[in-house]
Amino acid sequence: MFDNVQIAPPDPILGLSEAFAKDPRPGKINLSVGVFKDAAGKTPVLAVVKEAERRLVEHEQTKGYKPISGDPEYGRLVRELLFGTGHEFVSGGRAVTAHTPGGTGGLRVAADYLSKQHAGTTVWVSDPTWVNHPQIFAAAGLPQQTYKYFDKANNGLDIEGMLASLEKVAPGDVVLLHACCHNPSGVDPTAEQWQRIADVLAQRGAVPLVDFAYQGFGDGIEEDARGLKILASKLNELFICSSFSKNFGLYNERTGAVTVVAKSPAVADAVLSQLKICIRVNYSNPPAHGGSIVSTILGDAELRQRWEGELAQMRERIAQMRTAFVRELAAKGVQRDFSFIEQQKGMFSFSGLTKEQVERLRADHAVYVVGSGRINVAGMTETNIGPLAEAIAAVL
Ligand code: LMR
Repeated sequence: MFDNVQIAPPDPILGLSEAFAKDPRPGKINLSVGVFKDAAGKTPVLAVVKEAERRLVEHEQTKGYKPISGDPEYGRLVRELLFGTGHEFVSGGRAVTAHTPGGTGGLRVAADYLSKQHAGTTVWVSDPTWVNHPQIFAAAGLPQQTYKYFDKANNGLDIEGMLASLEKVAPGDVVLLHACCHNPSGVDPTAEQWQRIADVLAQRGAVPLVDFAYQGFGDGIEEDARGLKILASKLNELFICSSFSKNFGLYNERTGAVTVVAKSPAVADAVLSQLKICIRVNYSNPPAHGGSIVSTILGDAELRQRWEGELAQMRERIAQMRTAFVRELAAKGVQRDFSFIEQQKGMFSFSGLTKEQVERLRADHAVYVVGSGRINVAGMTETNIGPLAEAIAAVL
């Protein structure tokens, strides 16, 4: 059976971490995968997560299965985080949520649901997008198109190009949007641009699928949901995939959700029943621990406040690293204007480095960034930022 199996290419992001781990060079720098690092170069467990885990260990009564779509209370707390307290989608019945293994799990459940219930639905992704997006929708057998997004000339959003692409979307097509901290570019629409995007999608009869992996890493928890709320005010059907890898630091706990907003509670229930079929034949029901941590924190006013504080610290640190990186590049004599990096949001920056420069960074300087030139700013530290800027200066 296995004799003729070919070796698959490494994953464009996680494969780099594997290569990095094997690299024997001292001083190697990994800015590929989107993982936050503190000043000591560690990816810390948040103190509030430790506290929630203490409480869980003390009070946990069972390791019995979770429901297929997770605990209803987890779903309610996820929707409250997305839309804010008192919003009609928190408890009004039009929005339903399934607890999934990470945001990737949520995306795959949504993709499987689409391919089973609405076979042939075209999914539109931004150009560029997270490299795993096309892989996930291809794995579910869904056709894909791209819409214009990043404007290389000014390192910003090509809003007119984006709207012109979205004009071509057919009714019922799904349009994947990044709620905030666009991965890989770090470039987000303004509120006014979100209004225009939502208007075009509504006119076209499209269904947005909002990937919300970085809530709280851009401008703040509520601020980062601005685009989602604008979409929800103009469109009456949408998918939202949440990830708690970054904002709770729960990377290896695989904690996320898929939320669907439908036209009525009855329709939402029907969709949830179909999502449950997709889940049951895939991983049966969600892993409990990460979701229990998130529920414990979001369901307790004091823990929630502590979480918001730690999240703000991570956000502020990334902003400081952006400023420091731009300053270091200038200090190393780089002539090119990199000030746009300070305007971008979230973990990533599109550096504008070419494939060849990225390869030289890795081969000659043991600096790992994604082939597209995406740099994980959240992986920079006071220690590695100098050698990094030097290496970039050398390959430019
Ligand atoms: C990334 O883009 O680096 C993160 O979302 C991690 C991943 O799974 O790729």
